[in-house]
Amino acid sequence: MKTKVICADKKNGGEYRKAIDLAVSLLKSGEIAAVPTETVYGLAADAQNPDAVKKIFKAKGRPQDNPLIVHISSFDQLERAAHDIPEKVFSLTRDFWPGPLTVVLKKNPSIPDVTSGGLDTAAFRMPSHPVIRDIIKTGDILIAAPSANISGRPSGTNAADVFSDFNGLIPLILDGGVCDIGVESTVISFVSETPVLLRPGFVTVEDIESRIGKIDISPAVLGPVKSGEKAMSPGMKYKHYSPDCDVFLVKGSSTDYRDFVKKNDGCGVFALCFDGEQPIKNSLCYGKENDFAEQAKNIFSALRQLDKAGAKTVYVHCPNPKGVALATYNRLIRAAAFKIIEL
Ligand code: TXA
Ligand code: MG
Repeated sequence: MKTKVICADKKNGGEYRKAIDLAVSLLKSGEIAAVPTETVYGLAADAQNPDAVKKIFKAKGRPQDNPLIVHISSFDQLERAAHDIPEKVFSLTRDFWPGPLTVVLKKNPSIPDVTSGGLDTAAFRMPSHPVIRDIIKTGDILIAAPSANISGRPSGTNAADVFSDFNGLIPLILDGGVCDIGVESTVISFVSETPVLLRPGFVTVEDIESRIGKIDISPAVLGPVKSGEKAMSPGMKYKHYSPDCDVFLVKGSSTDYRDFVKKNDGCGVFALCFDGEQPIKNSLCYGKENDFAEQAKNIFSALRQLDKAGAKTVYVHCPNPKGVALATYNRLIRAAAFKIIEL
């Protein structure tokens, strides 16, 4: 299959409209396409067409019990697709939708089982990126979209990274430039009495608790899902965000980190560090130590860049797991397969 990459920049008026219309006609005919969102690129299909949704699982090599997020553009769509929506959902989404927040709710039969991975709940997000919003509105369709990466790999945050995973596997990639946020949405479940954070993202625990009070944090946010344990969010139990190189997460001060990496330098060794640190020749920076948003924006493309540069072993200077950096930390512990070095 030939994979077309088309620019979808709102500033290009007529060309932009054509790109949206092409994606809508493909999706309505049961095909899949990669599209930009404000968090990461998504691999999109009509969420209510089971055959189309199956193509997402196939292209990504994704386990079928790992449910997809349903993207919407209005509260009417949400109320048709979910039931027993707690008042807290409206208090929270009033401030963070459209945006990088996903809520898990009891689903209606209008959401097929393949989309929800066989669960009786489904995840919903109202994205803010114009491309996916215009697709939902123009086509009047709900869009199922996991991150656009081969299952297990770092999420795609620009069209070139998406192309390197899906060239020949999907018919279309809409190029909307580099994603502003760079890590996937915050996922919070409203199925039990107390809401539970399943995946940290740009909308932080502090943001959420200041709107709706105390929430629980799933143990999977900060550590591995133990074998035999039931994962509340099936995505957390699989290998995730992994580049080909062997990643170690190193916790410690800047001085200790630099000394450690210098001592362990060798063939194929790289440092993924904060701006200004560069302990060895093969160093790549992923942002300023105190700029959590910048770290989140760069982390996935940096992991992919390391593979391209031929890295074998990577020592990542661990971010402070606070605010938005909790999201970066959550992705990095998985990229490192929980290999953490405390200095
Ligand atoms: O920012 C994002 O959320 C991106 C963009 C494309 O919107 N999408 C994304 O999708 O990250 P994905 O499939 O890579 O991650 C969805 C996560 C998975 O960990 C999945 O297990 C969880 O959400 N999830 C989906 N439905 C769920 C449900 N009903 N119950 C619990 N977890 C659910
Ligand atoms: Mg993903």
